Parts: sequence; structure tokens; C-alpha cells
Amino acid sequence: MKNKLERYAYNKNSNYIIQEGKSLFDKTKGNWKKLFNNNNPIFLELGCGNGEYTLSNSSVHQNCNFIGIDIKGSRLWKGAKYLEKNNVKNALFLRIQIENILDYFEVNEVEEIIVSFPDPRPKKRDVKKRLTNLRFLDSYHEIIINGGKLMLKTDDKDLFNYSIDQIKDSKFKKLKYTDDLYSSPDFEYVKGVKTKYEKKFLNQGKTIKFCECLK
Ligand SMILES: C[S@@+](CC[C@H](N)C(=O)[O-])C[C@H]1O[C@@H](n2cnc3c(N)ncnc32)[C@H](O)[C@@H]1O
Repeated sequence: MKNKLERYAYNKNSNYIIQEGKSLFDKTKGNWKKLFNNNNPIFLELGCGNGEYTLSNSSVHQNCNFIGIDIKGSRLWKGAKYLEKNNVKNALFLRIQIENILDYFEVNEVEEIIVSFPDPRPKKRDVKKRLTNLRFLDSYHEIIINGGKLMLKTDDKDLFNYSIDQIKDSKFKKLKYTDDLYSSPDFEYVKGVKTKYEKKFLNQGKTIKFCECLK
């Protein structure tokens, strides 16, 4: 297993990771379709880690563009290696703090967002850092197109209940949810890909909670 420094060195030269220090870094906002060289819709995976959702969906849905976002370069490295090896044209990784997402995406630029097993941040002092805090939801609402979808997958009951309450207070509408995704007859389209954390939680016997809502 490569160490962090080797991974960072790889990321620096990878065409699949947009991060600080690269020429494209501050030029993405409003320009994603130009960057992908097509007019296809854009799907985001927030807190993507190794990016399993982005990797799998970009292979299945060739007529869509996928962007995995995370701050941890050593995790993005794994996904970027896969994209390079498979010469993927419709997926990229963006290494940023999600707090700053509005600096990288234009209003109505994104078709769909999935927040994938975000850190639960149970401490009261960390409430504002939860990726489903109203402040985050407002920024997602800005960049999603009208009729576009926001989804959340988590194993954490408290974070899930908190997120449902925040979504109800947000501008999103048509909220649907289940606290046991794999016992639900609905939401088949999010059952196919299991991320690293999802597999870990399922192995621990936890149930997966899922919700989706529309702009
Ligand atoms: C529990 S891991 C889940 C990773 C992956 N989605 C999975 O299911 O395997 C949460 C990820 O969110 C990222 N993350 C948490 N807060 C973030 C933030 N504010 N900005 C960018 N990334 C963040 C972490 O770096 C971490 O990789």
C-alpha cells in the first residue's frame, strides 16, 4: 500500500483530480460541461471517499458526468487510479471542503447529488459541520437544477433523523425516506452500488437509511 506522500505526488499530476495548485482549480464554476466536453447532466457524490458510487455509475451511465468530492487526497487517489487505468472520460474528482461548494458550481449546474455516509458529527458543537445542516442544504439547492434530486445514505439513526428535520425546514420538496433501505421495495436505483463504509456497516448488521427530495 502506497503511503500518503506517494499518493499526494500522484494526485498532483493526475488529470482526474482537480485540486488546489492546478490550473483548472478556480475555473470550474459554470464550466463543467466544457471540461467534460459534452452537454450531459452532472451528478455529484459528496464525501465520496474512494468514490465507489462515482466509479460504478460512470461506467454504467456513459451519457452522464460524475464528480466525486472529498477533502482527503489519500482516498481520492484510489478512485483516480481506477479512472486512469480504465481511461474513463465521464468522471472526475474534486478535492475541496464541501463548505466551499458554491465556489466550484454555478446555480442550476447539477442534476443530482448524493451525500454518501457522511460523518455523523454527533457533538453539539459540530452541528454546523454536518453535511446535511441547513446551510449545506441551501448551497445544494442553489446548484441543483429545478426538478433535480438530493439523496442521503447513512447508517446513523441520529444523523438521519436530524437530516430529515433539516430537509423539512429547507427549500427541498417531495421528501421520501426509509429507515431500512434493503427491506424497502422502493429506491432500487441506489441499491446497486455499496461504498466502502456501506459494506462495513452492513457487515456490522446495521440497517441503511435513505432519503431523497427534489428541488
Ligand atoms: C465516513 S466517510 C464516507 C466515505 C464514502 N462515502 C463511503 O461511503 O465509503 C466520510 C467522507 O466524507 C469526507 N468529508 C467529511 N466532511 C467533509 C467536508 N466538509 N468536505 C469534504 N469532504 C468531507 C471525509 O473526508 C470522508 O472521506
